[in-house]
Amino acid sequence: MTFLTRLDDSSLAAGSIPTFSLSQRGRSGLELLGSIQKFSSGTLRPIAAERFANDAEGHALAQDHASSSPDLTTRERIQRAKTLCERDNVYRLERFLQRYVAEENFNRGIPAIEERRAQFEAFDAKQGQADALGSLDLPDRIDIPKYYDRIEWHLEPGGWDGYDLYGALFAFGVGPMVFRHGGYAAVGVGDDITQQRLKTVAQFPKSHYGKIYEPGCGGVSTLKALHTVFPDAELHGSDLSVLLLKNGRKMASRQGFAVHLRQADAAHDTREPDDSFDGVITYALHHELPPKANRKLLAEMFRIMKPGADIVISDPPPFRAVDLFHAVILDWDTDHREEPFFSAVLHDSIDDMLAETGFEAIESYGLGQGQYPWITRARKPLTEAVR
Ligand SMILES: C[S@@+](CC[C@H](N)C(=O)[O-])C[C@H]1O[C@@H](n2cnc3c(N)ncnc32)[C@H](O)[C@@H]1O
Repeated sequence: MTFLTRLDDSSLAAGSIPTFSLSQRGRSGLELLGSIQKFSSGTLRPIAAERFANDAEGHALAQDHASSSPDLTTRERIQRAKTLCERDNVYRLERFLQRYVAEENFNRGIPAIEERRAQFEAFDAKQGQADALGSLDLPDRIDIPKYYDRIEWHLEPGGWDGYDLYGALFAFGVGPMVFRHGGYAAVGVGDDITQQRLKTVAQFPKSHYGKIYEPGCGGVSTLKALHTVFPDAELHGSDLSVLLLKNGRKMASRQGFAVHLRQADAAHDTREPDDSFDGVITYALHHELPPKANRKLLAEMFRIMKPGADIVISDPPPFRAVDLFHAVILDWDTDHREEPFFSAVLHDSIDDMLAETGFEAIESYGLGQGQYPWITRARKPLTEAVR
């Protein structure tokens, strides 16, 4: 979902953000949520982590997790660590506040946007089709995968397409007032996801790219980061959500860059030609797909990439790469922030998936606190091996 984390950013093009603001009640309600999130992840969570580390059982489990020959499986370790954490009131309060903020983003945010519906609609209408940059291909009908349709991702009522003004809610409400503090899901406290996207894009190994593709591009926040780092690259993306694609194109046009977007199931058929892209990026995508769909998606990326092209992936770190307390925190999202595949993907290995697909020069590493953003990058061989 495209959102800005700083509405006072002087690099934003004139007219790209509204000149009106939310009501005092709407704004302060969201700012309060931002403060609660910051307190929860910045103050309470380190206390809970310390109490876990100082507990004899917690200490033993953490050592087993860090060992190269552990006694327990990762699933068993996380389960036991979770049971231990749940006995601690500080942990429980921290998790209660995380869930409260995740839900209240919508309970408070939607009414705050509704109060300004007329202004947001008028602001949106200003970017008419005539002066829109790039292209948007919306086929008459595509098969939406079953796993996707029934989920209210991140507790969003109705899922990605469930409310017509989600674009405004994230871009001008939840993004700059709550998410800007970090401290949710895999994003560390104080970390800014806009900067994390730029750092991720900088992991492309070459200095120039002709055409870059992003499956699951959502509202084009990562395509915007690509445009900043590679201003000459032609940018293409796909998503299943029509609302996100429409908002994304509008947002890109307003900020002065072209994107070529298409509604497509990237784990099935992007409808892009073979060997046509110099680079592929995925950002915050794989943990939203069941493992089987991830394998199909990587095979589809391999098909559309030119020989020698690079793929850069950023997704939450696998459980094996983080300390055990942090693994418990990440695992929590699966059941409490409507992320049904989160844990399954973090138990799996994107490195292995890339190797099975035929990629080479595979490497993975963390860029920041809590190993986030976690980067996995690889290359399509110049000559395809006979497999
Ligand atoms: C967490 S969002 C990330 C959006 C974007 N990559 C970004 O950096 O903001 C995940 C996106 O993946 C899209 N998605 C999930 N499964 C998909 C699929 N099979 N094909 C295309 N898009 C998909 C969702 O609709 C959603 O917009």
